[in-house]
Amino acid sequence: MPLNMPLSGALQLVDRAFGIDRILASEGRDIIAPYYRQSVPGYRRIHSEAGCMHFALNPEGSFDKAGYYAQAREITRHIGETGATRVLELGCGLGFNTLHLAPQHPQVAFTGLDLLDTHVAGCTRAAAQAGLTNTTFRQGSHDDLPADIGTFDVIFAVETLCYAQDPGRTAAQMAALLKPGGRVVIYDGFRHPDLNSAPADMMTAARLFEVTTAVTNGFWTLQDWRIPFEAAGLAVTERDLSQAVLPGTHRLQKIATRVFTNWKYRLLRRFMPPLLVRNSVAGLMGPYVIQGADPAAGETRPGLSYAMISAQKPD
Ligand SMILES: C[S@@+](CC[C@H](N)C(=O)[O-])C[C@H]1O[C@@H](n2cnc3c(N)ncnc32)[C@H](O)[C@@H]1O
Repeated sequence: MPLNMPLSGALQLVDRAFGIDRILASEGRDIIAPYYRQSVPGYRRIHSEAGCMHFALNPEGSFDKAGYYAQAREITRHIGETGATRVLELGCGLGFNTLHLAPQHPQVAFTGLDLLDTHVAGCTRAAAQAGLTNTTFRQGSHDDLPADIGTFDVIFAVETLCYAQDPGRTAAQMAALLKPGGRVVIYDGFRHPDLNSAPADMMTAARLFEVTTAVTNGFWTLQDWRIPFEAAGLAVTERDLSQAVLPGTHRLQKIATRVFTNWKYRLLRRFMPPLLVRNSVAGLMGPYVIQGADPAAGETRPGLSYAMISAQKPD
């Protein structure tokens, strides 16, 4: 159904089911903790039993869960190239990346940091169950990195810096924690630089996607990160990966569509935690915000992109 339907039709579905204004009333509010408390069971059930909470990268064009490991593969490359002995993951979530990397790199001490105690406790438990001795998980915010956390060869962050309150401040702190020659790797969603002048429907779709993934202040632009990293003396590279996340967004859209069109799911909607069920709005909007309001009719102007930023500190 969706994408056979222009964005305007999908927005009508959202409005009828949830009320667009009611959703957007959450803009600017901090809903991160309740969002993850309500949504993690849904992530585990629909997205990844193994606790992955990021998009799969499927550049070959069809969805494959193996793509959930693509970000970690890139970190392995940086570990090899820098000869890393200390690696920090910001916003480690349920530990998917670090728990995957740690057994492959026994010579590396991994630290995972997350805002939410429950995530940290889950990671610590999972690491103990796996018998890992080279991981430490701790609670903390990338808005204010703990002073005693140490220095690192690689600092990476997958789909968490969208929640940063001030990229300038966070980027400066990350740069300060890097050893000479160290690298930062970020994967995330970003606002298209001219989203503010996009057609109204695209702006609404992007804001709905943001709010229903708890990014209530909106995604940052690539430039919001590039400028402070460069100011801190790092050499910055960016890679657009929007096409690679599209298969995952189409898969989620197909699942989300049931919440709007299938009577059983529509009934269930009333009994599900509100921030969990609102993920269906992000699911429905996902392909539109990346591909445009009506690709079949040539409306391909995107609202959001998915990209990797890497930045290197001089030796
Ligand atoms: C979309 S999940 C991604 C988790 C993990 N990186 C992954 O790839 O599966 C975002 C994570 O960022 C965490 N987070 C949000 N704001 C944060 C902050 N200010 N500091 C640290 N972690 C934060 C959330 O608690 C959540 O676990």
